[in-house]
Order: sequence, then structure tokens, then C-alpha cells
Amino acid sequence: MSFIIEMLKNNKLKFLSFLFFSFITSIVGVFTLIFINDYLLKNAQNIPIFYFLILLLVFFTSSTMVELGLSIFGQNFIFKMQKRIVKQILDTPLLRVAKVGKARILASLGSDVRNISFGLLRLPEFLQSSILIFCTSIYLCYLSFEIFIFCAVWIAVIFVTNHFLMMKVYYYFRKARENDDALQNNYQNILDGHKELLINQERAKFYYELEFENNAKAKKKNSTLGNLFNNLSNNWTNVTLLALVGMEFFLALKYNLASVNEATTIALSILFLRTPLVSMISSFPTLLLAKIALDKIEKLELDEYKENFEKIDYIENWKQISFKNVSFSYEENFSLNPVNIDIKKGELIFLIGKNGSGKSTFCMLLTGLFKPSSGEIYVDNMPIDEENLKRYKTLISAVFSDFHLFSKTLSKNGFASEERIAFWLNFLELNNKTNVSDNELTFTKLSTGQKKRLAMLIALLEERDVLVLDEWAADQDPVFRKFFYKKLLPLLKEQGKTIFAITHDDAYFDSADRILLAQDGNISELKGENIKELAKNLVEKFD
Ligand SMILES: Nc1ncnc2c1ncn2[C@@H]1O[C@H](COP(=O)(O)OP(=O)(O)OP(=O)(O)O)[C@@H](O)[C@H]1O
Ligand SMILES: [Mg+2]
Repeated sequence: MSFIIEMLKNNKLKFLSFLFFSFITSIVGVFTLIFINDYLLKNAQNIPIFYFLILLLVFFTSSTMVELGLSIFGQNFIFKMQKRIVKQILDTPLLRVAKVGKARILASLGSDVRNISFGLLRLPEFLQSSILIFCTSIYLCYLSFEIFIFCAVWIAVIFVTNHFLMMKVYYYFRKARENDDALQNNYQNILDGHKELLINQERAKFYYELEFENNAKAKKKNSTLGNLFNNLSNNWTNVTLLALVGMEFFLALKYNLASVNEATTIALSILFLRTPLVSMISSFPTLLLAKIALDKIEKLELDEYKENFEKIDYIENWKQISFKNVSFSYEENFSLNPVNIDIKKGELIFLIGKNGSGKSTFCMLLTGLFKPSSGEIYVDNMPIDEENLKRYKTLISAVFSDFHLFSKTLSKNGFASEERIAFWLNFLELNNKTNVSDNELTFTKLSTGQKKRLAMLIALLEERDVLVLDEWAADQDPVFRKFFYKKLLPLLKEQGKTIFAITHDDAYFDSADRILLAQDGNISELKGENIKELAKNLVEKFD
């Protein structure tokens, strides 16, 4: 909501000129009515037709200005709102976004932004209709006060009855919006799991009929009912306004409240009012949908909007990263017990441990993506807090086990040089698989193992001091796996990189300077004479 107020404040001038043109349109509309009453209905001798044409021209120009302004304002709004939400997602911590879920965020980015902007577009129309109704009412009042009162009461009754219908519309639209979230989730699962569904017809049938179809049916039902009540409300307004025309004529003539001419003008005025009134009433659902959408976006609980990406200085000349009593727990079941570990610059450290022992969770803390529940991470003597977390992250490049491959070849400041790209493409044996043009990988549809090498390439080009790898070698063939442990890691170490790698490859444990063990949420360092043998024995006992 605050965004809308901010948006209106920033566009004060546009909004005021919009109101001005709305007012002009309404006034000219009323003048047109007066003209019909004073000249056309009274069958006057010298009809100033030129005046009539001018009125129509002004009416046309001012309403076109209003429409044009509205559409520019609307598109601008959608643009700003999208920018805002995407930036908020980029600023929101990982776990919070994961908790909300991709489907809900995608649904908000799609339908909620659209609905809010539609609502906002109807809002000025709503105002314009109100101005028109107000101006026409004054004219009605002037023609016959009694009939005006009668019309006002009649229209008030229409509004009250419509309120009941609108509550129903709101209820069903809100439910339909809930169904949208579920449907978005279905679409995502169907596309992500397309292979699994194609291979197993039974699973596809089950998913299609029991999950997707049920949600789609619920959405259909709720949208239909919402629209039904909305149409009922529109028709009710239309018919009752037509009834008002008849009633007004009857009362005016029966009780001598107005002449035939005046009664005709009043009838015309009511008919003239019909468009803004119906438009006003039919804009309610859009406004209600916008309200639902605003609530939905609020509930995503994304971080505050910050307009710019701040400039972050890299941490230079550091010696070690220290974990001091750092613990972490997920809201559910698992926690990592206090960890006390120093990672010195230039070290090659392996982390081993059973499935579910907390290795990846530790990596999330090391990369600064999870905030410790207690304890602190230090870079030398500097504790990492909210203030310097972004700086801390500049130390690290990572290839996660569920990595996403971005294709831009970014380096520390700007883009990576052609020489470095050529060197690493060659080193990672990717030079006949892909290339780089315009600072972007030209081809990324490679095998899983090759894609991981591409992810490694992108990470290495970033030229950051620490490389965190979560089971990087798991998808590599034996030859490349050996190459990774025996050639790539030693080369990186030689270049001064600090490497923290999660691994299960006991054949290569001797490549590491140090080995850490994760065990039921405890991270400890293997110490002693022959840690490589100890680690191998431990790994054998995992099964
Ligand atoms: N997002 C999450 N929310 C709640 N619990 C989680 C989440 N991710 C992991 N866990 C829990 O934390 C525990 C440790 O998970 P983690 O991914 O750190 O294990 P791991 O050692 O990396 O295992 P693996 O070798 O299978 O990759 C698991 O038992 C899991 O149940
Ligand atoms: Mg893991």
C-alpha cells in the first residue's frame, strides 16, 4: 500500500492534471445535457450548432487525454512494481524465499502485479465517474429538487444491495486467487518433472487428475461464481436504473414535479449517468482483486525495497575465516551444533560425512547464505554481521550441488579477459564444446558432468579468494575426477586459492591439507598421524 501512496506522491502533477481533465470531461458532459434541454428539446429557433460541435470536441479531447494519461500511468506502474518485487527477491535471504516457495512468488509476479495495476487504472475511472455523478446531480437538483432526492435514494438502495453482491464477488475471487498459487505449483512440477511424468503414465494420470485437475476445477468454480455475482450486480444496476427512468417520468408528470421537457432531460441525465454508475460499480471487482493482490504481495514478507545495488568493496589481505561457536537450526528437525573452526587462506580442506550429516548446511553458513542461529563468523578480527555480510560474500565463489548456470563470464571488475577464458576452457577440456562471445557462453546444453565444468569455469573466472564446492566431482567420469583432484585442485592451490570441498571420494583424500568430518550435525576436524587413512576408514563405516 505504501508503494501506491509513494507512487501517487511522485506523480502528483500527473495525477492532478488527470483530475483536472476528468473534471473538464464531466463538466462538458453536463453542458451537453443542458444544451439538449435548452435548445433541442425546446425546439428553439436558432440552435447554435457550432457551440454544440465545440462541446463535443472538448469532450472528445479531454476524455482522450484522460485515457492516454491512464494507459501511460498504468504501464509505468507495472514496470515499477515488477522492478521492485524482483529487486526485493534479490535482497531477501535464501531461507525466507525458500519458505514462501517459487510458485507463490511467480504467481505474485504474474497475476498480482497485473491485478494491482488494473485496480489502480480503475481507481481514476472511479474518481472520474464520481465527479461526473456529482456534476450531473447538481444539474438534476437544479431541474427538480424532489426528483433529485428520489433519484438519490433510489441509487443509494442500488449501492447497498450491490454491497452484498460485492462481498460475494470478493469471497470467490479471493478463493480463485488461492487456486492460482496451487496451479502455479502444478505447472512448475509438470515442467520440472516432465521426464518422470513422461516415463510413467500412471504418475502422469494421477498428477493430472488428482492434483492439477482438482485445482483447475476449483479455480473454474470460484471464478465462475465470482463473475456470476459480478454480472448479477451489473445487470441489477442496469435494470434498476432503467426502472428509475420510468419512475421518474411517472412521478414528474403525475405530481407535476417537472414539465415534460424537464422530465425528458432528467431521463436523459439518468441515462447519461448510467455509464459512470455501471462503470463505478463494475470497477469494484477489479479494485477488490487489486486489494487481494496487495495482501498477497504483503504476505510474501520480502525484504524492504532498496532501489540500488550498493557498491561493495572486496575484502583484501585477509588471513583466516574463523567459526566461533557457530550453530544453526532449520525450523524443522535438524540443527548444526556449535562449530569452532579456522580456515586459513590458501588451504585445501575437504569435508566428509554421511548423507544428511550437515555438510551442505555448513556450506550455506560458510558462504554467508544462512545466518548463524548463534555464534559468530570472523574474517581475521572482523565479526561478520548484517553490515558487512555482503563484503564477506565477495570472498566466495561456489558451485553448489544444485547449481544454476549463469552464462555471463563475469570477473572481479567487469568481464573476464579472453586469455583467461581461453586458458580455463582449455584446461577444463571444454574448448571444443562451447565458446564465449560478447562475454557470454555460446552453448550450455551439455552433459551433466560437462555443465558442472562450465559452472566451475564461471566460478573460477570470478577470481574470488575462496572456492566452495559441494560434491563437485560427483558427476565427473573417473578420468576427469582424477584430473580434478590431481591437477585442478593443486593448480588452484598453487595460485593461492582457498578451497573448501565436500567430497565422498576416499581415493583422493590425500590431496587435502585438512579433513573435516560432519557427523549428526557436529563438525570436527580429523587429527592425528594419518588422517587420510582415518578418513577412509570412517567413510567405509558410513554404509
Ligand atoms: N531446507 C531445509 N529445511 C529443513 N531441513 C533441512 C533443509 N535442508 C536440509 N535439511 C535437513 O538438514 C539435514 C542436513 O542436510 P544437509 O543437506 O546439510 O546434509 P548433507 O550432509 O549435505 O547430505 P548429503 O550428503 O546428502 O548432501 C538433513 O537431515 C535434512 O533433513
Ligand atoms: Mg549435501
